[in-house]
Amino acid sequence: MTTDVLLFGAFPYVAMALFLVVSIQRYRKNAYTVSSLSSQFLEAKQLFWGSVPFHLGILVLFFGHLIGFLIPRQVALFGAVPLRLLIMEVTGLTAGLLALWGCVLLMLRRMTHPRLKAVTSPVDKALYALLLFQIVTGLWVALFYRWGSAWYVQTLVPYLRSVFTFQPNLAVMAEMKLIPRLHVIGAFTLIAVFPFTRLMHVLVAPLPYLWRRPQLVLWNRARAEGAPRSETLR
Ligand code: HEM
Repeated sequence: MTTDVLLFGAFPYVAMALFLVVSIQRYRKNAYTVSSLSSQFLEAKQLFWGSVPFHLGILVLFFGHLIGFLIPRQVALFGAVPLRLLIMEVTGLTAGLLALWGCVLLMLRRMTHPRLKAVTSPVDKALYALLLFQIVTGLWVALFYRWGSAWYVQTLVPYLRSVFTFQPNLAVMAEMKLIPRLHVIGAFTLIAVFPFTRLMHVLVAPLPYLWRRPQLVLWNRARAEGAPRSETLR
C-alpha cells in the first residue's frame, strides 16, 4: 500500500508540477529550444514512413483518452451498443498499431543512420524507450483485457478524475492488474519528463499554418533558367 501511495497518490502530482513549472520556465528562458529539433534535412524518406503513422496514431489515441476522461458517461453510453463498441475498439487498436509501427521505424532510423546517431542524445533514447513502453502496454490492455475502451471509462477514468479533485482513489488502482498499472505509471512518467525532451514541440504546434493566408515569395535576384520569379507558399 505504501508503494501505491507513492506511485498513484504522490507521483501524479510531482509529474504534473514538473510539467507545468519546467515547461513554463523552459519556454521563458530557452524559447528557441522548444522544438521537435527536426532531422528532416539529414534523412527524409524513413522519417516520412515513421513520423506520419506515429503522429496519426498518437494523436488519435491522445484525443481518445481525453474524450473518455472529459465525458466518460457519454462514451460509456455510446459503447453500450455492440457495433459502436467494436468501432471504438477497432479505431483504438488501429491507432495503437500505427503508433507502434511509426515508433519502431523512428527508433530504427535513429539507430542505423550514422548522421542521425550523431544527433541522437541519451534523452532522445530514453524518450523513445518510454514511448515504446507506453504504446506496448496500451496495446496489451486493448488486446488482452476485453473491451479496453469500456474498461477505461468505467475503471481508470474514476481514478484519474479522483487525482484531479485531489482525492486520489487508491482502492481502484490496488485492484488493477500489473499491465494497466504500468500503463498509468508510464503515462505520468511521460508527463514528468515531457519538458526535458523534444516533446515540448507539442505545446508549440504550428496550428495557425492550417488557416493562415498563403504567402507570396518574390525573388529579387537572378534565378536559374526557367525558375519562377515568384511562388505562392501555403
Ligand atoms: C500537435 C501535434 C503535433 C505536431 C504538429 C507534431 C509535429 C512534429 C514535427 C514537425 C516533428 C519533426 C519531424 C522531423 O522533421 O524530424 C515531430 C517530431 C516528433 N514528434 Fe511530434 N508533433 C505533434 C505531436 C506529438 C506527440 C503527441 C508526440 C508523442 C507523444 C510526438 C512525438 C514526436 C517525436 C518523438 C518526434 C521526433 C521524431 C524523430 O525525429 O525521431 N509528437 N513532431
